[in-house]
Amino acid sequence: MVAIKNHTSTYPVGHAELKKWVQQIAAQCQPEHVHWCDGTKKEYDELCNKLVEKGTFIRLHEEKRPNSFACFSDPSDVARVEDRTFICSRTKDDAGPTNNWVDPREMKQTLSKLLEGCMKGRTMYVIPFCMGPLGSDISQIGIEITDSEYVVVNMHLMTRVGQKVIHQLGNEGEYVKALHTLGAPLASGQNDVKWPCNPTTKYIVHYPEERSIVSYGSGYGGNALLGKKCFALRIASAMAQEEGWLAEHMLILGVESPDHEKTYIAAAFPSACGKTNFAMLIPPKEIEGWKVTTVGDDIAWIKPGKDGQLYAINPEAGYFGVAPGTNVKSNPNAMKTIAKNTIFTNVAVTEDGDVWWEGMSKEIPKNLTDWRGQKYDPASGKPAAHPNARFTAPASQCPSIDSDWENPHGVPVSAFIFGGRRSNTIPLIYQAHNWNFGVYLAATMGSETTAAAFGELGKVRRDPFAMLPFCGYHMGEYFNHWLQFGRDIPNPPRIFGVNWFRKDEKGNFAWPGFGDNMRVLKWVVQKVRGKSNAVESPIGWMPHYEDIDWTGLNFSRHQFDQLMLIDREEWKAELLAHAELFGRMYDKLPKEFLFMRELLLSSLWRSPEKWSVEQE
Ligand code: GTP
Ligand code: SPV
Ligand code: MN
Repeated sequence: MVAIKNHTSTYPVGHAELKKWVQQIAAQCQPEHVHWCDGTKKEYDELCNKLVEKGTFIRLHEEKRPNSFACFSDPSDVARVEDRTFICSRTKDDAGPTNNWVDPREMKQTLSKLLEGCMKGRTMYVIPFCMGPLGSDISQIGIEITDSEYVVVNMHLMTRVGQKVIHQLGNEGEYVKALHTLGAPLASGQNDVKWPCNPTTKYIVHYPEERSIVSYGSGYGGNALLGKKCFALRIASAMAQEEGWLAEHMLILGVESPDHEKTYIAAAFPSACGKTNFAMLIPPKEIEGWKVTTVGDDIAWIKPGKDGQLYAINPEAGYFGVAPGTNVKSNPNAMKTIAKNTIFTNVAVTEDGDVWWEGMSKEIPKNLTDWRGQKYDPASGKPAAHPNARFTAPASQCPSIDSDWENPHGVPVSAFIFGGRRSNTIPLIYQAHNWNFGVYLAATMGSETTAAAFGELGKVRRDPFAMLPFCGYHMGEYFNHWLQFGRDIPNPPRIFGVNWFRKDEKGNFAWPGFGDNMRVLKWVVQKVRGKSNAVESPIGWMPHYEDIDWTGLNFSRHQFDQLMLIDREEWKAELLAHAELFGRMYDKLPKEFLFMRELLLSSLWRSPEKWSVEQE
């Protein structure tokens, strides 16, 4: 092996296999320098300064937004690229019908051509990172190699990075290999652009059996911060299936009742459907004595404990949250979290060096710079911030952070909530009859697509468990894993469905949402504790109007009734969509699902054409 010039590490690395891998990648990608990240604040500050010098970062106003930066991405690089994401398992069948698959040998050939010299003129950073608290037996270690300073500083905020991870790894520890490149080599003397990426060629590739990742051509979010979706969901879900645990696209929150009883809940909503908002919920002041604490806002790793309970950790250390729509009313905790030490991507910048996005305030500030770096013209009809603009902030800055958020044993989970973005059909809240029906509910979840992924907007698609873009193996096997998981624990958590997004006949949201979601959450928590009343509907258990705490909110019986309505015609269409999903994975589909669908159909036929809680 040839020694690499300019190879700097300020600390010893005893892991021979890791050193060999790094050397191999350096020889292939041919960077100018190799830098092992130590995870210190000094390193973070130096790289932020370098990004400012390169013009990638704009340093924001030192008092209004201390130690914070804004940047604008290339317009071709603004979200996850689902059509360029591949699960390269040994066989196509192992990846299943919902994933893109290419034979791993073929993919490796394609990539090896692209990787040859792909880091020329750049520094290659080696980032040792830990997903989850260091030393927790639920946590996992990864090494990301990247040629992007933006990725390094974001990884600093989103994961635990540096020498301490190398120490934990030891000389022979296992880790996930995560190689990332912008796919934008620089010829000697060539000036860099502000947001380097490869505008035409992108590959987000996973080898689940090898537990390795290669990402080429994008510098944005989940495409490039490989600890997040690539590792903590796609690779981890494959590990979890093998080892008997769960890796889920879920927030984790704690609810404290007035008598100081704590209940933890994990909830899965698709991308840009309200996980961050729900995780940081502040109850209306009239719901006295109730408090919500935040453990995580995007990913949960869940393992059964020796006591048969489920325990969850948040594998991340920061939030990569959707900016548009976030304001002091919709999410005051998020606004406080991002008051300092935050990186903003694709938001608008004000003339006094602060940030702005649609929904932050009613008035649009004058003289904005939009996310494309141009003077913003409000008359253009285009938004100033990209709809998938995001902030990256340390989780520890969240005022509602749970005191156990870094507990290495995790927090005990008592219930799961699943919710899509649906203008119609799905009621505000219902509880599945049992674990199996809950798994069915989650597996058949539909949601209208959002700007968090590149593609068509607003179309209903099936998004099982909010994991459609994130499941690292066959979706049918994933359903079976969930069913088996429930059989193996004595008292599995209760499962609920919610829909904050149902619209009225005028096309407005019929539910106030945000903090008022506490009213639904309170019913859920008390239901779990055996203290809530419920009525049986054709699809599960539901609260009566009387069972919800309406203190401080003017919400009529009729309005509630509309939100909870089960319309037989709409549900017939819904069940047809379930059948369509099942048809795609018929050979691996749990047989239970066919019977549960029949049971739902028959109970819909037995009930009125428009079933309402009021009639019961
Ligand atoms: P990812 O980070 O992409 O996985 O998404 P997330 O689920 O964390 O998304 P986030 O919480 O940032 O969702 C943002 C979008 O959901 C914004 O458009 C919000 O306005 C909207 N939203 C969140 N909560 C509610 C709610 O209770 N009601 C309504 N109507 N919209 C909501
Ligand atoms: C999502 O799209 O679900 C996200 C953002 O959480 S990203 O990290 O870009 O995937
Ligand atoms: Mn997400």
